[in-house]
Amino acid sequence: MKKLIDKLFNERDLSDDELKTLITDMPEPEYLFSKARERATEVYGKKVFIRGLIEISNICKNDCLYCGIRKSNGNVSRYRLTKEEIISSCENGYDLGFRTFVLQGGEDGFFTDETLVNIIKEIKEKCPGSAVTLSLGERSEKSYRRLKEAGADRYLLRHETANEDHYDKLHPAELSLKNRINGLKTLRKIGFQTGCGFMVGSPYQTVDNLVEDLRFIKNFEPQMVGIGPFLPHKDTPFKNEKPGSSDLTVYLLAIIRLMLPSVLLPATTALGTAEENGRERGILAGANVIMPNLSPESAREKYTLYNNKLHTGAENAYKLDLLKKRISEIGYEIVTERGDFIPYK
Ligand code: 5AD
Repeated sequence: MKKLIDKLFNERDLSDDELKTLITDMPEPEYLFSKARERATEVYGKKVFIRGLIEISNICKNDCLYCGIRKSNGNVSRYRLTKEEIISSCENGYDLGFRTFVLQGGEDGFFTDETLVNIIKEIKEKCPGSAVTLSLGERSEKSYRRLKEAGADRYLLRHETANEDHYDKLHPAELSLKNRINGLKTLRKIGFQTGCGFMVGSPYQTVDNLVEDLRFIKNFEPQMVGIGPFLPHKDTPFKNEKPGSSDLTVYLLAIIRLMLPSVLLPATTALGTAEENGRERGILAGANVIMPNLSPESAREKYTLYNNKLHTGAENAYKLDLLKKRISEIGYEIVTERGDFIPYK
């Protein structure tokens, strides 16, 4: 089985059947992780980039079956941050050394193009040298263009699953995989550093679906990939579904690192929530990004996509020293540079 991992390392791809074998049996994990670390180190050194995450709104017009802030969840205390709160969160982060800010939120009609353009411009003005990443769901091509022109650098839009039937089991009828993929293609065409991704172990997911996700990612060649275990939320139709495996998530992170050597790959909050050392395990499997939370405390508890979401420990941006210590203990270094994508030669 080491041979298969060597082939993945050298050729940066495998056949669908070979990928399926790896995902099903998860052979030689330590060997796979060491090859993934070798590749990540070759491109980015022992650096781990940090992104300050600001959860700007938990109001969402969509009703995704897995998500705790879905429209029909009446138990959520809804909020949206003001422009001033968003800017001051960025300024706090800037003082701590953050040079990327990720504005993430539900699909909230309050955040029109004009509102976002003003916010982006002000962040760029008050936090010189910073990158702005948006994670605000599906918008029109015109909207994406205006946000890019205002100075936004990157856009995260997880595809959630690359299989249409599976997509339809996770989402309401208004949403379609086609629109998602079109959105991703548009974002890339416009010049955003673009990120896709999926949940590991979401309800109805098969091993073949995961192979389809890897194939989609390999072909699309995004600059960023976000994956984390599915974690049930008590107020959703999936409340009794079993959580995704963190072992499989970490294994998939390593495979993705070997398929796309220079991808920016976060060890996500969901992985850190599923397991105490989840994020460290992610870094040791080839991940190279961590996204600590910069949202005001009051917002943080309300942005609950899944149960037990971390918000008080090392994932808290205000406890950056704790995170730095934990990452240095595993031989890596948190750096404060923007951490842009470096194409693989
Ligand atoms: N478990 C894990 N991840 C989730 N997300 C949404 N709900 C859940 C959940 N219950 C992920 C989705 C989304 C991202 C912001 O969070 O993949 O794109």
